[in-house]
Amino acid sequence: MLDTTFDQKKAEAFSESMVDILNKSAIALGLSIGSRCGLFEVMATLPESTSMRIAEAANLNERYVREWLGTMVTGRVVNYVPETRTYKLPEEHAKYLTNEGDYNFATGMQFVPVLANIEDRLVDCFHNGGGVPYSAYPRFHEVMAAESAQTVVAGLEPFIIPLVPGLREKLEAGIEVLDVGCGSGQAMIELAKRFPNSNFAGYDFSEQSISRAQSAAESDGLKNVRFEVRDAAAIGETEAYDLITSFDAIHDQAKPAAMLAGISKALKPDGTYLAQDIAGSCHVEKNLEHPIGPWMYTISLTHCMTVSLAYGGDGLGAMWGEETAVRMLGEAGFANVSVNHLDHDFMNTYYVATK
Ligand SMILES: C[S@@+](CC[C@H](N)C(=O)[O-])C[C@H]1O[C@@H](n2cnc3c(N)ncnc32)[C@H](O)[C@@H]1O
Repeated sequence: MLDTTFDQKKAEAFSESMVDILNKSAIALGLSIGSRCGLFEVMATLPESTSMRIAEAANLNERYVREWLGTMVTGRVVNYVPETRTYKLPEEHAKYLTNEGDYNFATGMQFVPVLANIEDRLVDCFHNGGGVPYSAYPRFHEVMAAESAQTVVAGLEPFIIPLVPGLREKLEAGIEVLDVGCGSGQAMIELAKRFPNSNFAGYDFSEQSISRAQSAAESDGLKNVRFEVRDAAAIGETEAYDLITSFDAIHDQAKPAAMLAGISKALKPDGTYLAQDIAGSCHVEKNLEHPIGPWMYTISLTHCMTVSLAYGGDGLGAMWGEETAVRMLGEAGFANVSVNHLDHDFMNTYYVATK
């Protein structure tokens, strides 16, 4: 009997979209490799050039560069002139693939191999439960720091500080600030440089990140910033800070409720908690139009959720959603919570909370 419900056109369209995904996943890996090899920065400065000239300028092996250029040309990232065998990265593309431009997507593409690297362990978790700990991701903190340099550090002065009325004036006068889950500490270092009358602290449980943060603060000669290896779920301080921040650091905690309660306790009664975390809804159907829904669920699966589960945690995941965030902030003692979106950082929501 003929299956009359089978839609042949729908099947063909899906098959074409699979081919598209295959190609785009390959381009994503190529963008990551190009980013790590410095090829976009070099090509942005070169005129139309042969693969030999590009390889020499980047100090790389020509055969590898030429094969990589094949992906970039067929992926429509780089232009190619067959007559002269020359390649050119268009200015309009360089704007989104180098640190000189508006936003460097090639940096973010480095998450693809960083996360794919733990696939075997993740598949094992599908069968046996448990999680993959932070220590299994050798380059995570490095790539995270490069990404948050674009969204957090670059956005502090023009967009993030203005979210809290009067914050700039308070920072200028001198206040106590703590960043929880500070990673490589770039946000606090940036603020410590700009506001010498205020004191800044950063806590993270990653020894590698804290040592990187301490070295950076030391080489900048900063005396008003300190970094400590500490568990965010056990801050253990009372009414010590005027401002506490966390950047992309709640949803992947093992014990996010304990972290939020500790932050609430550590804030002075009139203090402010400013939290950046992934934008989205806790309802999957509401994320269908999310511009990077599949990307965020995949980052969550391959990192945020599993690292939390690895420490016996809640496994909230990156798509815990604004609904859950607002509820948990309320439960932690924050009576007023505003939910903000900033144009420069469409991946995140910014919560401003007071007790
Ligand atoms: C997604 S990263 C964000 C890092 C940094 N805020 C940034 O924007 O670059 C989350 C950070 O939370 C830290 N973290 C996770 N669980 C923690 C815990 N229980 N105590 C302290 N830090 C924790 C991780 O080590 C990591 O640096």
